[in-house]
Amino acid sequence: MKRLTVPAIRQRKQDGATAEPIVMLTAYTARQAQLLDPHCDILLVGDSLGQVIYGLPSSVPVTLDLMAAHGAAVVRGSYHAVVVVDMPFGAYEASPEQAFASAARLLKETGCAAVKLEGGAAMAETVAFLTRRGIPVMGHVGLTPQAVNVLGGYNARGRSEAEAAKIVSDAVALAEAGAFAIVVEGVVEPIAIAVTEAAACPVIGIGGSARCDGQVLVTEDMLGLFERVPRFVKRYAALSEVISGAAADYAAEVRARIFPGREQTYQPK
Ligand code: KIV
Ligand code: NA
Repeated sequence: MKRLTVPAIRQRKQDGATAEPIVMLTAYTARQAQLLDPHCDILLVGDSLGQVIYGLPSSVPVTLDLMAAHGAAVVRGSYHAVVVVDMPFGAYEASPEQAFASAARLLKETGCAAVKLEGGAAMAETVAFLTRRGIPVMGHVGLTPQAVNVLGGYNARGRSEAEAAKIVSDAVALAEAGAFAIVVEGVVEPIAIAVTEAAACPVIGIGGSARCDGQVLVTEDMLGLFERVPRFVKRYAALSEVISGAAADYAAEVRARIFPGREQTYQPK
């Protein structure tokens, strides 16, 4: 199977109501990517890896080095989905030139097809700058976790009329600047629908609406591996219990000298 392309993702919007919703999940490792790839249109190497695998309090401390290392692993583990790598906080906001240098590094070192960055109208110039120079960009509006220190927390956005209007105009600005898709996160449902209707590119929801052009979740959240999750997460598995149970069985067998058994030991000929 040939790998999907950024234009094929963008085309879903032109296909309108008949288009199949875009399926996106996060992936941080090669094996995880292998397992998710056949089922997904897009694999996102999210900077949520800061909290999910490094135990950081937010995504703010995540570095470009980390994103490059995990991005390369996910590209190596996949062959079908479009791989998008998050630009971490501090790697793109200062100028379009800074963003291009960071994004080019991610494309060259990982083999990913596109990058994602957070922010609305303020990032439109940067989105246009990168897109015109060969780097497809996915936008991210609404609840933007890298701005947690400005927002003051992870509450749903768009509850006031002014905030709602700003989220919609942010998404329109990104789409007009050439973003090939936009994530809308943690907004009240009418705003997710308004963003989806207003933007000329596919809008992918997380804590959005079933009427978005696609959906994304953090894989560890939907697998029941991460303990504190927002209400927009649906758990499709309970892997925490599976892993704890396996560790408990192993520990008991080691302590009782049941493991390793004859099948797990090398015998002389
Ligand atoms: O970092 C991430 O996982 C994300 C998704 C939640 C969209 O940005
Ligand atoms: Na992210």
